Amino acid sequence: MPLVAANWKMNPTNIDDALDLVRGVMSVARGHADRVEVAIFPPFPWLLAVSDLLVETGVKLGAQDAFWENSGAFTGEVSPAMLKGWCQWVIIGHSERRLYVGETDEMVAKKTAAVLSRELGAIMCVGELLDHYDEGRSDEIVTGQVRAGLAECSADDSARLVIAYEPVWAIGSGRNADPEHAYKTMRLIRRIVGEMIGAGAARKVRILYGGSVKAANVQQYVELPLCDGVLVGGASLDAEEFAQIVRVTAEVYGHR
Ligand code: PGA
Repeated sequence: MPLVAANWKMNPTNIDDALDLVRGVMSVARGHADRVEVAIFPPFPWLLAVSDLLVETGVKLGAQDAFWENSGAFTGEVSPAMLKGWCQWVIIGHSERRLYVGETDEMVAKKTAAVLSRELGAIMCVGELLDHYDEGRSDEIVTGQVRAGLAECSADDSARLVIAYEPVWAIGSGRNADPEHAYKTMRLIRRIVGEMIGAGAARKVRILYGGSVKAANVQQYVELPLCDGVLVGGASLDAEEFAQIVRVTAEVYGHR
């Protein structure tokens, strides 16, 4: 089933707006729950209140990050063990964390393994910078990130593992990637995952596209044969826009 993930990032700044946003998306997401898995990733302080609203709706909840240890003296961190119970998903290695918080491939690998070992789903993000893209180094960069990030994963993790290909230059820029480029990179990711955990297991790993996805351009991605859904940032903060992304995805996969 395709996955449409709403990464709210550090928005909205108050709980009432967060709950309004969930309510706005819920009826559409619920109506398509048999065809599209929808997951919402609010900031940590809103997780509990949002989880109450999502009970029995079929809409999933996720966190935007998690630490690799389960408890201990790690000020400010949140562990997979703490998320287990109301979250189903965790985003790991988003480019904004790599950029602003200095997350390395090694940290991404430890976090991904920790999340999967707690039987949560992990959405591991990879993607090249604009300079890499312009220099024709996208494949090399993405290959390195996938190999390093999955270093501690095994075939048993495949059903709960998602890789989001998000070219950094496409995130929040309004410059979404050409579908041909997205397709080639997703094909490369699938091949590398196959080399690492076996081709059979790799087929169960879902691969998403992310980067300036909106209702007007989502179809060209979800129609790609290797694309299992989208990771949506800015457009997920507008309930009607996000609902339309879910509708388009449901329609495309309904015809597959
Ligand atoms: P965007 O963000 O849709 O605003 O480009 C995507 C993401 O960062 O996951």
